[in-house]
Amino acid sequence: MYVLGIETSCDETGCAIVRGRNVLSNVIVSSLRFHKRYGGIIPEIATRNHAKVIDKVFKESVVRANLRLSEISAISVTCKPGLVGALVVGINFSKALTVALNKPLVGINHLHAHLFAPFLSNNARIPFPFLGLVVSGGHTELFVVRDFDRVRSIGKTRDDAAGEVFDKVARAFGLGYPGGVYIDKIFKYKYRKSFSFKCGRPASDFSFSGIKTALIYKKHELENKNVFSYDVKVKLLSSFEESVVSAIVENAVISAKKYNLRTIVCGGGVISNTRLRALLKQACNNNNIRLFLPPKRFCSDNAAMVAGLGFYLYNIKKIPSSLNIGAFSN
Ligand code: KG4
Ligand code: ZN
Repeated sequence: MYVLGIETSCDETGCAIVRGRNVLSNVIVSSLRFHKRYGGIIPEIATRNHAKVIDKVFKESVVRANLRLSEISAISVTCKPGLVGALVVGINFSKALTVALNKPLVGINHLHAHLFAPFLSNNARIPFPFLGLVVSGGHTELFVVRDFDRVRSIGKTRDDAAGEVFDKVARAFGLGYPGGVYIDKIFKYKYRKSFSFKCGRPASDFSFSGIKTALIYKKHELENKNVFSYDVKVKLLSSFEESVVSAIVENAVISAKKYNLRTIVCGGGVISNTRLRALLKQACNNNNIRLFLPPKRFCSDNAAMVAGLGFYLYNIKKIPSSLNIGAFSN
């Protein structure tokens, strides 16, 4: 039962083949270098690049998996949320494959795929129900997950996503893109409390735009006083990162307790963050909660997570095939 997955929701063109936890191939081509000079993703550039490379990415994933096309049981494709033009490339390619190969097609929610990424590599069985935490460039959201097809949102950011705020702050500080990676590298533990920045945590939701504004105002103030050195920059960014990741961890643990869940499962690009991973481990340990983190290669966008969720939805939940899949931005 091999399932092929296709991912084109943002700037990564991905195609992977999996069988349960076993990833036979996971090919990713990113258009990131074309977006760097703009400090963010340009949808038209992403869409054109998907159209240019998707055929090669698909062929390469089949070669690396060392399979015949006839051995693939089903195709799964990200259909939401994402950049509509980018999604359409992957969806149309998958529909063409479905017709040409006479295989079933399953539409996948990208956020749910991030959530089930830890299933790809964990030897331990992940028990349902669990609290799901997705922290990415487009989303910061909490879910109660009762099964592969029973995923309910219980809280999300009311403004910027955590990855988005890292990227915007990095741009304001003249760091590269994607900003989260640079802020992760610059973070110094000893400076984590040098400045006191606070994140809003309205009810079970998140809010990150206030801290972004506070940080940028503080930077301007220090620049105007001529005291903005490299050391001060590291202090500001370390204190900012500490506040963002602490708010995420606090909210996740409070929500797990509120819903009486003893397991937290995480996914999304920001879950690569060194300090966030350490704080999550510490908080879960202190609160007797089991934590499942994906390995870093499955945190940011990839097609293995799409094929993985497709495998479970098709084989276990028996989701019916449909050619009637559309692209949705949210
Ligand atoms: O999941 P992802 O690849 O794409 C979306 O679905 O959005 O996440 C991309 C985001 C970017 O905002 C990037 O800055 C952030 O993940 N990111 C990180 C790290 N690596 C990537 N943020 C913090 N620390 C990291 N190490
Ligand atoms: Zn993503």
